[in-house]
Parts: sequence; structure tokens; C-alpha cells
Amino acid sequence: MSKLKNKVTVVTGGNSGIGFGIAEAFKKEGAVGTITGRNEKTLNDAVAILGSDFISIPGDVTNSNDLENTFKKTFDKFGEIDVLVVNAGGAIDGVEMGTIENATEESYDSYMNLNLKSAYFTVQKSLPYLNDGASIILIGSSAAHRAAPGMAIYSAAKAAIISLAKGLSLDLLSRKIRVNALSPGSIDTPVFGKIVPEEHVEQVKQMWIDITPVGRQGLPSDIGKAAVFLASDDSAFIVGTEILSDGGLTNISLMK
Ligand SMILES: NC(=O)c1ccc[n+]([C@@H]2O[C@H](COP(=O)([O-])OP(=O)(O)OC[C@H]3O[C@@H](n4cnc5c(N)ncnc54)[C@H](OP(=O)(O)O)[C@@H]3O)[C@@H](O)[C@H]2O)c1
Repeated sequence: MSKLKNKVTVVTGGNSGIGFGIAEAFKKEGAVGTITGRNEKTLNDAVAILGSDFISIPGDVTNSNDLENTFKKTFDKFGEIDVLVVNAGGAIDGVEMGTIENATEESYDSYMNLNLKSAYFTVQKSLPYLNDGASIILIGSSAAHRAAPGMAIYSAAKAAIISLAKGLSLDLLSRKIRVNALSPGSIDTPVFGKIVPEEHVEQVKQMWIDITPVGRQGLPSDIGKAAVFLASDDSAFIVGTEILSDGGLTNISLMK
């Protein structure tokens, strides 16, 4: 049986990596809806694969007008939204995050705006168009729990995302809207090409495989399956919490 039959979904950053994996999993379960992103070519490519039950709406999640446009157009096309996945985020091409010794206020603001502020306002701008009883999934990260070199600002933003799942669930209780965080570990997506030069990508992925207890990187489809669970009635009693899909990275230490 399809778990999301005719559910109206919005996945921000649905044109790449984890967001696309989630949109594909939603489609498999009978959902319809919108994917967003800034890159029109990858948006078109993604919709060509997802099929005619999905549309793409170009937009920048750090821009309030773009967010409003996304939700209004989705509502006009499909009606009230049942599932919102706040996924857009991660690395910013050409902006080095830095460490406490060399980060700039500009890089701090860029990373916080994308990975925390935009998530808060994505939820806020969606509210007039959400069904009561909707499920909101905020994409967190295992980085919120386990420090990694040069990632302190991003990790702090993602830790705040996990906190938002609690606070926003309380804010939205009267509408029976559930907010949960879904935190991936290391997932094989195009993000690695944004963080290190192409010739080092495989080496960095291998480094993550070496410290992931199940011995592999996750796939976008792994996160897609967990997102289907949080989007569907199967998780009706799960509110304001976090699910880690990280192959054991956070909680299991590989001691030799
Ligand atoms: N891959 C991992 O190992 C991993 C682990 C933990 C958490 N995560 C989280 O998972 C999410 C997706 O990451 P990913 O690995 O799939 O990365 P990705 O392949 O680089 O995808 C990032 C997505 O976000 C969109 N995006 C970025 N900035 C945007 C902006 N300003 N406005 C609108 N859309 C924007 C991108 O689309 P456009 O470029 O077209 O705008 C793209 O669709 C992020 O929140 C990331 O922090 C990833």
C-alpha cells in the first residue's frame, strides 16, 4: 500500500543529493508536489525523472519572497501541503567556513543564514499553506553531535535545527503539526565536490567510510526511506524529536 498516496509534499533542495532521494522516495509512495533549488538545469533534470506529479519552483531559501512564492504556487497547483522537508543547506560553493582562528563574520553569517535562519523562515512562510496535521521534517546532521575538522559553525547550526524540532512542535501543537529532525551521517551526494577539490573527493569519502560503523556511506535513498516514515501516519506519535540515519557514526565508536 502507498504510504503517501496523493499527499502534497514540498522538498527544498530537491534537485540534488539527499533532497532528490527524498523526493524519489515520496514519489514511490504515491506523493505529489514541489521540489525547489536555485539551479534551473538540475531542477528540470530532477522533474524529468520524478514525472508529471512533481513540479519545480526555482528559488533561494535565504530569500523570503522566494519562499512565499514556493508555497503559494504549490498551494495553487496542488492545494494544502501535507509534508514539508526543510532540506536545502550544507556547503556553500566558494565560501570557506573556516575555524575559530580564521573564520570571518561574513562566512559565519552565510553558513548560519543557509543552515539555520532559512530553515526557520521556510517553516514560517509555509504555515498559511500547510494542512493541520502536517508533518515537517527538518534535515539535521550527525555533525550536530560529533565534531569534525573545520565544521564548527555548520555543526552549531544543525544542533540548533534539532532544538527547533522541539520548539516548533510546541508552537504548532494546536494545529497538530508534527516537527521532527532527520539527521543523516555521511551520505554520498554532490556536496563533497563543493568542500574539497575534485581530485580529493574519493579520499574524503573513504575517510568517512572508515569511521562509519556499518562500513559504507549512506545513500540518498537511505534518508528517503526514513523521511517516508516521518512523513507518514506510521510516525503519528513521534513529535519534536530526532532520528539519526548515520550508520552508527554518532553512537558507536570503532575502537581497534
Ligand atoms: N551529504 C551529507 O553527508 C550530509 C550529512 C548530513 C546532513 N546533510 C544535509 O543534507 C542536506 C542536503 O545535503 P546534500 O548532501 O544533499 O547536498 P547537495 O547535494 O549539495 O544539495 C544541497 C541542496 O540544497 C540546495 N540549496 C543550497 N543552497 C540553497 C539556497 N540558498 N537556496 C535554495 N536551495 C539551496 C541545492 O540546490 P541549488 O544549488 O540548486 O540551490 C541542493 O539541492 C543539507 O541540509 C545538508 O546539510 C548532508
